[in-house]
Amino acid sequence: MAGPGRSCPIDYRYQPDDLAGPATFTTPTLYIVGGLYGNTHALDAVLARAASEPVRPEIVFNGDFHYLDTDPDRFAAIEAGVHAHHATLGNVEYALTSTDDTVGCGCDYPAYVADDVVTNSNLVLDQLRDTAPLTDAGRARLAALPRHLTVDVGGHRVGIVHGDPESLAGWRLALEALDPPDERARTETGFDGETTSSETVVDWCLRADVTALCCTHTGLPHAQDHNESDDRGGRRHLVVNNGCAGLPNYAGQRFGVMTRLSADPHPPADSLYGITLDGLRFDAIPVRYDHDRWHDDFLRAWPPGSPGHINYAARIDAGPWLTVEHSARGRVSPSPVG
Ligand SMILES: [Fe+2]
Repeated sequence: MAGPGRSCPIDYRYQPDDLAGPATFTTPTLYIVGGLYGNTHALDAVLARAASEPVRPEIVFNGDFHYLDTDPDRFAAIEAGVHAHHATLGNVEYALTSTDDTVGCGCDYPAYVADDVVTNSNLVLDQLRDTAPLTDAGRARLAALPRHLTVDVGGHRVGIVHGDPESLAGWRLALEALDPPDERARTETGFDGETTSSETVVDWCLRADVTALCCTHTGLPHAQDHNESDDRGGRRHLVVNNGCAGLPNYAGQRFGVMTRLSADPHPPADSLYGITLDGLRFDAIPVRYDHDRWHDDFLRAWPPGSPGHINYAARIDAGPWLTVEHSARGRVSPSPVG
């Protein structure tokens, strides 16, 4: 099964304990933005949303900020925008800078993802390698991004990864993998892998010494609180996957999603779903980018018949099957009361 797009390079491997060191920085409000996918209009929307906050938040772009940006000007705009903030490595950035010519798109797609999806994803990365206007210094800067980050948000430790706490492109925090099972997610994705239990999630959070664990990579957003058993302290932990900031995430909708964490307990007016955990406020926030301009950029770079179009045109137009009710799990509340 291993091959381009399905392999897991040794560089991807780390452990939850690796997140347990001192926080890299402290902030009262944090945005975590995964999966921009080269959508410069989504980048603009994230920055505009940040500028509207009473106190300017810190922003972490946790990987796959490049992907469909084969237009060199778009690629350069994403580079400039992302590196003005914090960033962690995604599989796209890894694949783009790796000398390993067997990595393909670097997605480490599980067996339940169809071969043609993997093939097209590898072809997108091939084209991005050919067009990316990267100098040696620019390539080195991307390659040197951390694989994970720990941030202090108002006294709460937050772990940030791209995939899961064991692999940069891990799928164990995919919606379809979590317990209790979301049967629709399992049917839609064809999931046939190992379920990630709440006990495993809590164990990861304890080893990482974090209240919240935030990821992206697998494309469908969700959030769920998990309880420690009383003999382990009885605390609650939160896992958040922001899906994609640069692509639609919901049926019939055309906005991306990002994660907002804050020491301010007030839910923002545009929250899609959220929860407050021991004073740490989480909300999923829509990234309301200019669809028409993104659609035009996409079609110029990826016309009908191209691998990017085959994999993403339908999602960009109409979103996936998901609804907010599937994303808000456990005690996380749609349109927040949490
Ligand atoms: Fe990814």
